[in-house]
Amino acid sequence: MSKRNILVTSALPNANGSIHLGHMLEHIQTDIWVRFQRMRGNTCTYVCADDTHGTAIMLKAEERGVSPEQLIAEVKAGHEQDFRDFLISHDNYHSTHSEENREISALIYNRLKEAGKIRVKTVNQLFDPEKNLFLADRFIIGACPKCKTEGQYGDNCEACGATYDATDLINPRSKISGAEPVLRESTHFFFALSDYTEFLKNWTRSGPLNEQVANKLAEWLDAGLQDWDISRDAPYFGFEIPGEPGKYFYVWLDAPIGYMASFRHYCNSRNDLTFEDYWDADSANEVHHFIGKDIINFHALFWPAMLSTAGFRTPTRIHTHGFITVNGQKMSKSRGTFINARTYIEHLAPEYLRYYFATKLSAGIDDLDINLEDFVQKVNSDLVGKVVNIASRCAGFISKNFDGNLSAAPSTPLVEEFLNQRDAIAALYEQDEFGKAMREIMAMADKANQYIAEHQPWARIKEPGNEALVQNVCSDGINMFRTIVTYLKPVLPELAARAASFLNEDDLDWNSLEAPLAAHAINKFKPMMNRIEPKVIEALLESAKAEAETTAQAPQDGNSQAETDANSDNTISIDDFAKIDLRVATVINAEHVEGADKLLKLTLDLGDSQRTVFSGIKSAYQPADLIGKQTVVVANLAPRKMKFGISEGMVLAAGPGGSDIFLISPDAGATAGMQVT
Ligand code: 2FM
Ligand code: ZN
Repeated sequence: MSKRNILVTSALPNANGSIHLGHMLEHIQTDIWVRFQRMRGNTCTYVCADDTHGTAIMLKAEERGVSPEQLIAEVKAGHEQDFRDFLISHDNYHSTHSEENREISALIYNRLKEAGKIRVKTVNQLFDPEKNLFLADRFIIGACPKCKTEGQYGDNCEACGATYDATDLINPRSKISGAEPVLRESTHFFFALSDYTEFLKNWTRSGPLNEQVANKLAEWLDAGLQDWDISRDAPYFGFEIPGEPGKYFYVWLDAPIGYMASFRHYCNSRNDLTFEDYWDADSANEVHHFIGKDIINFHALFWPAMLSTAGFRTPTRIHTHGFITVNGQKMSKSRGTFINARTYIEHLAPEYLRYYFATKLSAGIDDLDINLEDFVQKVNSDLVGKVVNIASRCAGFISKNFDGNLSAAPSTPLVEEFLNQRDAIAALYEQDEFGKAMREIMAMADKANQYIAEHQPWARIKEPGNEALVQNVCSDGINMFRTIVTYLKPVLPELAARAASFLNEDDLDWNSLEAPLAAHAINKFKPMMNRIEPKVIEALLESAKAEAETTAQAPQDGNSQAETDANSDNTISIDDFAKIDLRVATVINAEHVEGADKLLKLTLDLGDSQRTVFSGIKSAYQPADLIGKQTVVVANLAPRKMKFGISEGMVLAAGPGGSDIFLISPDAGATAGMQVT
C-alpha cells in the first residue's frame, strides 16, 4: 500500500480550564491512532492548540487582574506539560490567538462574504447595563418560567427540563454583576447555513462519519438548518471582524480554523510539509479530526460548509467518541470522581491509563464507563500478569543457560500465527476499534502463557537432555512477547522502548513482524512495569477530592464531558444558610503537611474548643504568617477523614485563588466572592 500523508487533530481544549481525564481520553485516542499510522510508515502530523477566545476567558482574566494574553500563555504552558506527561505526541501545540489564525479566519470570512453567504440581521439580546456587555445564556440566571425553580440558566431548566428564551426567565439577573439585564438591539453577522442542507445531506453520507453519527445529523438536517450567528459585540476577547469595528468573530468560528493555523505554524518551521498540499480543495492527502460527540454539529455541519465555500478541502474523517462516565454517571466534583490530568499523573504512570482507555475505546459514540477497581485489575492482570510475565518467565533461562541466544527457528506454529495477525490488528487500529484490538492481543498473551505453562521450562531444565527443548520454548515465548508488545506499541510506547532494549532491537516496528527473531542474542531482562497498588488509588482519590474542594467553582466553558458543581443548582435557601454555624476563630498553630501540595494543617481556637482543619491555602501563606490571625470557620461541618488526618471544619477565605487567597482578618482589601478553601 502506498504511503499516506495524514494530518490529525484533537479538539482544541479551552484555555479557561485545566485538562481533565475527559480531555485525556480524546488525546490518548488520537495519539494511539497517530502512533499507529507512524509505525506503519505513513507521514502523520498531529497538531492541536488551545482554544482561547470568548467572554469566559475575558472575564476570568479580569477577575485575576491579568491580561487575557497573560492568562492564556500561562494556561497553555500547563496544558502542554500535561500532554507531554501522558506521552501525547503532538507535533505542534499552538493557540487560536495567533497571527496565523487571525489571517486564515479573515480569509475564510472574506471568501464566505464574496460568495454571498454572510447575512446581516438585527437581534434583540439581553444586556448587562452595569458591565456594558451582551449576555450569553449561561451568564443569565433566574427562575424557570415553567416550574419556578430559582437559579436556572437562560436556556433551559435543570429541574424540569423546559427549554425557553432567556427573556422568559422570571426575575433574570446577570451572573456577572447581579444587575437586571435589559433588552438591547444589535447587528449580528450570520453564516447562511440554511443554504447548505442539501450539500450536507450528501456530505455527511459520503464517508467521513460513522453511521451512528450520520444518522444523528440526519435528524437535524431533516428538520432544516438555521443560519448561524458568527458575530459577538465588543467587549469580547477574539478577532475583530474585518471591516466591522466593534464586532468580533464568535469563538466557534475561529476555533476549528485553529487546526489550520496550528498546521500552518508548523509548516513554517519545516521544509518537508506544505500547508496547501493538505488544505487545497483538490488535496489527495488526508485530514482527520478527533472530537467528542457534543461538538459534532460544529465539525460535521458548519465546518465542511465553511471550508467548501472558502475553497478548501473538507475533512477525510471525523472520529467521534462518547463521554467518560464513572460508575455510569458523569464525572463530578461533588462525587469525587472529577480527576484532573495533573492529579492523576502525580500518582500513576501514564501508560496505565492509556491501556485502560484503549480497552474501552471503539468506533462508536456510546459513553465509556470507567471504574477504578476495574482499571487496577485490568492493568495488573493484563499488562503485568500476562504480557510482561511472558518475557520474565522465559528470559532467565535464555540468559543463564544459552548466553542470551535464541533458537534458530520457532518450534510452535503459534509464533507464526501471532505474526500473521498483523493485518487484522492493523485494521482494528485503523477503524478506531482499539478495545477489540486489545482483546485480540490479550488472547494472544493468554495463548503464549498457556504454551509456556504446558512445557514447564522451569521443570524441564532440571532434567538432563532437555536443553534444546527449553531453549526452543523460551525463544518461542520471547518471540510471542515481541509480537504482542509491537502490537501494543501505539498504546504503550514506553513499554515498547524497554522491550526493544531487552530484545536488543533498535525499535519495534510493524514491518519487522514479517519474521521472528532467530539465532539472535537478547539482553538481560529488567522489570518493565510495576503493579498498581490499591493504596495509590486511595491517595489519588483523596487528592482529587482535595483538588475539587480547593478549586473555584467556575463553570468550565465547553467540553461538557465533566459536570462541574456550578452546572447544577448551586443556590441554597435561607433555611440551608441558617444551618451553617459560622464562627470567628484564631489560628493558634499552622504547619506544612508532608506530601501535600496544597494543604496546610491549622489548629483553630473557637473560644469553646480547638479544632484541626486542613485547608488548601498553601499557595498563599507561609504557616508562620497565619499564627495569630483570625478567620471564619464553618464549625458544624461533619469531620472528614483526609489522607493526612481528620479535618474538623472548613476555613473560609476570599480571593481568586493562587497566591491571592485572603483570610478574613486582618488582611485588608480582600476581594469579594467567598471561596471555600
Ligand atoms: O468544546 C471544546 O472544548 C472546544 N474548545 C473545542 C474546540 S474544537 C475546535 F473546533 F477548535
Ligand atoms: Zn423548570
